[in-house]
Amino acid sequence: MNYIGISAGFHDAAISVVNSSGNILFAAHSERYSKKKHDRDICLELVLDALAHVDLDQVEYHYYERPWIKAFRQLRSGEGFQWPTWNRLLGNIYNDLDRPRIHTHGHHLCHAAAGFQTSPYNDATVVVIDAIGEFDTVTIWDAAYNDDTGRAEYKKLWSQQYPHSIGLFYSAMTQRVGLQPLDEEYILMGMAAYGQPKYLREMQAELLNPTDYTKFVQNLHVGVDDNFLPDADPMDIACSAQLLVEQMIRNIISRARMLGRSLNLVYGGGVALNCVANSMLGDFYEHIWIMPNPGDAGNSLGAASLGYGYKVHWVDSFLGHNISGNYPVNAILDHLLTNKIVGVASGKAEFGPRALGNRSLLADPRGFSIKGKVNEIKRRQKFRPFAPVILEEYVHEHFDMPRHWDNSRYMQVVATCKHPELFPAIVHHDGTSRVQTVPADGSGIRLLLEKWHFMTGCPMLLNTSLNIRGEPMINDRVDADRFQRLYGVTVLS
Ligand SMILES: [Fe+2]
Repeated sequence: MNYIGISAGFHDAAISVVNSSGNILFAAHSERYSKKKHDRDICLELVLDALAHVDLDQVEYHYYERPWIKAFRQLRSGEGFQWPTWNRLLGNIYNDLDRPRIHTHGHHLCHAAAGFQTSPYNDATVVVIDAIGEFDTVTIWDAAYNDDTGRAEYKKLWSQQYPHSIGLFYSAMTQRVGLQPLDEEYILMGMAAYGQPKYLREMQAELLNPTDYTKFVQNLHVGVDDNFLPDADPMDIACSAQLLVEQMIRNIISRARMLGRSLNLVYGGGVALNCVANSMLGDFYEHIWIMPNPGDAGNSLGAASLGYGYKVHWVDSFLGHNISGNYPVNAILDHLLTNKIVGVASGKAEFGPRALGNRSLLADPRGFSIKGKVNEIKRRQKFRPFAPVILEEYVHEHFDMPRHWDNSRYMQVVATCKHPELFPAIVHHDGTSRVQTVPADGSGIRLLLEKWHFMTGCPMLLNTSLNIRGEPMINDRVDADRFQRLYGVTVLS
């Protein structure tokens, strides 16, 4: 049997495939194929790529939400309701099949499964924080594999429900500073380093329930009105919002520490993409796992994992569309040594919002000119920093890693850079960097870093996503050629 997990209908549609041995055969975002950022619908090209990995006679479909419960919430809150398009699409493609088996799972349960069943742990306390699924916005779970059957079992210990949502609060603040909610929250997080927490108390007083700081006094699903902090500097709003969210996350993680049986933390939901907030999780737990795609796209893998039922074999996040051929290590090195910047589109695409080496724009991180050059290519806000990718064994030499984070293989945390004067391009205004560490796993990016280090003495590179401005990350060679033509930067495969 092959278990096809589907996440679709709201934002970040995706498909994942897990086989009966627990191997993840494929996982990819719809946006990479349709070229629509955060595409809510699964597109035909994605379906065809996914189904190339399965025997159609042996398939179960697992959907990441309970559509009728969600419809009830949408109708009750006046949002209106749209039946998920995955249903129509699959119906059209497989109208000659006998009733494909379709199962649905709760939204937060899928987040929990995506985290726990890919984690290295046999038991965990799972915390999920996001904007909204059906009704839950925060959940805490006990998760463990049954001693007799080996199947994953989940017990919900605590939940908070719509409209009290940390994710919706952060999206409302994203909108308040003029950014796109459900898309540009990461920019708000980056802006926070430039501001002062001048409005933290005001936000607490106006938005939070005075007797319960996990609840809000208004429904932030529609944002805050323009009169909220009318004359405030957007950077100060960002800083205040970030601190408030960190306080609320601390509150929830403390609660999880009290309620959960296990001392292993699995953390998921879209809020787990806030790498600044993630850096303090080590104050509560020694062992922490955040799946590299903890948002709703990752729920496709959660749904497929629930279908499979057991621990899946997690290797890395290179699970999407494949550009065949060996990783062009020597050609990349030549370009870096000559031009300092080069694109790479090779192997399977990353499953998750971050480029980790297979769809990356790479650059020499040393010196003061490189940030401007990469910004010129990326055409993005000048205040935003770029991330370093570093040989894992050298991370402590260059970064003060947060407590209990010895590695950050999927850019989950920020760390203070010890030598910002040497690497200004990868250091943010507050002296931190969103670090990606690469273990000795034989991957292309690892081999490249080893050779780069051997030739230059520098164990890191600047790594940013390979995408055309306003579009999702590059998926195939056609996209790579378009990038090359538009920006005049060589993209190697
Ligand atoms: Fe979610």
